[in-house]
Amino acid sequence: MNLAQLLHILADGEFHSGEEIGRALGVSRAAVWKRLSGLERLGLHLEARHRTGYRIAGGLDLLDADRIRPQMAFSSKLGKLDVLLDIDSTNERALASTVHPGRAYACVAESQREGRGRHGRTWVSPFANSIYLSLAWEFNAGISALEGLSLATGVAILRALQSQGIDSPGLKWPNDIVFDGRKLGGVLIELSGEISGPCKAVIGIGLNGALPDASATEIDIPWTDLKTLAGNASIDRNALVAKLLDELIALVSDYHQQGFATWRDAWLDYDALSGQNLSVHLGDKRIIGIAAGVDGRGALLLKTGDGIQSFAGGEVSLKPIK
Ligand code: BTN
Repeated sequence: MNLAQLLHILADGEFHSGEEIGRALGVSRAAVWKRLSGLERLGLHLEARHRTGYRIAGGLDLLDADRIRPQMAFSSKLGKLDVLLDIDSTNERALASTVHPGRAYACVAESQREGRGRHGRTWVSPFANSIYLSLAWEFNAGISALEGLSLATGVAILRALQSQGIDSPGLKWPNDIVFDGRKLGGVLIELSGEISGPCKAVIGIGLNGALPDASATEIDIPWTDLKTLAGNASIDRNALVAKLLDELIALVSDYHQQGFATWRDAWLDYDALSGQNLSVHLGDKRIIGIAAGVDGRGALLLKTGDGIQSFAGGEVSLKPIK
């Protein structure tokens, strides 16, 4: 019996008896029970009622390729789309995938066992209506032509969110998706290939959906989730994924032409730090100043006592001064 079939039965949030599930899947009640107990490992809370059966209270709105593709405008530029229940990391999967020129590979998962964040951190990835998405694309102009791509990705994400009625978040340099100082999501770009020739870029996006308490305690920074921003209304994740893929495909298809320069104004419109006092940590050094947007390459600009200073990626981190 496969896990996906079992979850599809339970997705309606109604009670189903062990006998009924066994009959539908062609397995014994004992086999059903073993599989049901495995759902806890995914972080799903299964409710059992004597003489009635089992349910996942609230049901599940599972990701489904057949509901994603038809909603896309650029589906013809998307090669393979994998929709997975559980994976180590969607970025890892995308890095290992084959990508054909002019066609994206993409995968989304319901949960990740080893979700990766920036600066070697872990991305907490429970099975809880979140978005874990990676898209791979082959670029030919060398790695330097990808400067600012992660900032432009932040803009693409906000446009996709806006299309689903979530228009309140902003961007915290370089590409955190934030609302009211709390992190909603992030971007991790990983590259493989040649410095000056063909290279594959994997754009990984994580957006908190409806974080369960157990996972929330694992996150050591202020966070928020889509459920909170949507005022507890449910989000159509398949529609959101379709829009994210469209925005990303539009981004990667054209990026080699003008790079970040054409995205800068849009990024500045979403800048959540503009005018705030910040300290930028660069190794042991701490530079204090006022955030003044980004330059045409995506570097952070800081007004300091010594004039405007710019900071590229790397280990720069920002903390508002209290
Ligand atoms: C950050 O630290 O802000 C970036 C988080 C990126 C997480 C996403 S989830 C989908 C993709 N797969 C991963 O392992 N990481 C990225």
